[in-house]
Amino acid sequence: MVELSVVRLEYSNVTMRFAQSGRGTLTAVRDVSFAVHDGEVVSLIGPSGCGKSTLLNIGSGLTAPSAGIALVDGERVEGANAHVAFMLQKDLLLPWRTVAENVMLGVEIQRLPLAERKKRAEKLLASFNLAEFSAHYPHQLSGGMRQRIALARTLAVDPHVLLLDEPFSAVDAQTRMVLQRDLAQTLSKARKTALLITHDLLEAVTLSDRVLVMSARPGTIIDEIAIDLPHRDDPFARRHDPKVNDYAARLMDRLEISRVAIESQAAEGAA
Ligand SMILES: Nc1ncnc2c1ncn2[C@@H]1O[C@H](COP(=O)(O)OP(=O)(O)O)[C@@H](O)[C@H]1O
Ligand SMILES: [Mg+2]
Repeated sequence: MVELSVVRLEYSNVTMRFAQSGRGTLTAVRDVSFAVHDGEVVSLIGPSGCGKSTLLNIGSGLTAPSAGIALVDGERVEGANAHVAFMLQKDLLLPWRTVAENVMLGVEIQRLPLAERKKRAEKLLASFNLAEFSAHYPHQLSGGMRQRIALARTLAVDPHVLLLDEPFSAVDAQTRMVLQRDLAQTLSKARKTALLITHDLLEAVTLSDRVLVMSARPGTIIDEIAIDLPHRDDPFARRHDPKVNDYAARLMDRLEISRVAIESQAAEGAA
């Protein structure tokens, strides 16, 4: 458990409506309020289309909310924020840049001196076991390796807050576990604050201090479950803890996954 202190990221009564061409508006999220404290890892789960990505976009400044505000370090988010880093399911690496050049992309924008940049790149690449690939190009590497590079790039800017939108959902199960461990270790060591979207309940339980559950659209927070387990820096250790399955089962109940599955089977049967 992380000792709660400073609020790093906050959503206050955030509502998001999208204009639908000729069909009025769609309320994607409604009246969402929560806070993520310094060093805390919070996962956000909820049915597809309930507005999880929309919330992350709002936190990153990519999208302005229709009502309410998002705050980072107590300041209203308006446009891109140097203290927030974003990572998506797609790695979005630049194919014409080497691994090292990709990792340092965000840092270039920060205008650090070249020597400082190189030093930081080397350190990061080493800590992610990427040193020997630094001169490779993305197409020479596996999907898992590319996501690892994307993670290193996200951390290279030394952000206060990481926003992670299903970062590992496109990689195979074994690679995913290794990436989860890398993320967990890095977040703990650097005491970073993170908001993680995932549809993998075990991922949510093994990586987080707290899990927020959203309803179907218009998405709103319907529950919050504190994960009171040791080893937040070691998802492999957590996976061996039988309590992990109890937490995952509780989340499944809150999401009403079994009911939804039965209903969709019934609908298929009727069709
Ligand atoms: N830019 C947009 N314009 C119109 N509708 C959008 C836009 N972005 C998202 N939506 C809609 O808002 C809802 C929530 O989307 P999203 O945040 O991507 O959900 P999730 O990430 O939980 O699957 C969906 O119905 C989606 O179609
Ligand atoms: Mg999404």
